[in-house]
Amino acid sequence: MSKRVAVYRKEHFNAAHRLFRPDLSAQENDRLFGKCALPNYHGHNYELIVKVTGEPDPITGYVVDMKWISDLVQEKIIERFDHRNLNLDTQEFKALNPTAENIAIVIYDLLRPHVLAQHDLQIRLYETPRNFVEYPA
Ligand code: NI
Repeated sequence: MSKRVAVYRKEHFNAAHRLFRPDLSAQENDRLFGKCALPNYHGHNYELIVKVTGEPDPITGYVVDMKWISDLVQEKIIERFDHRNLNLDTQEFKALNPTAENIAIVIYDLLRPHVLAQHDLQIRLYETPRNFVEYPA
């Protein structure tokens, strides 16, 4: 029987964003995104949960070292997005609507190359305590 274990590391960042499509009218943006489209941006306290699944290493007993995950997320995600305006300050969302869905996909793509091939990676991102997404689903 497989002894796969899921390991979770919770991190946090604050960021501002605005949901809108420049190719649509103000009315269409308002209809699609409501207050999230207001032009002067708004902020969220994002809670990020990184899940790595695999078998514990026979020597260490770890799937991955928690310190290693924490350092990786700090370096690749938190330093990039914390206290930033996602629309204005980041390359990743210059042309991509910074919805929670898209932020989760971007975070996954930034982390995946650093995670061992035999390990699965999943991102859970809370935009508010009640609204959260997971990728891959
Ligand atoms: Ni928002």
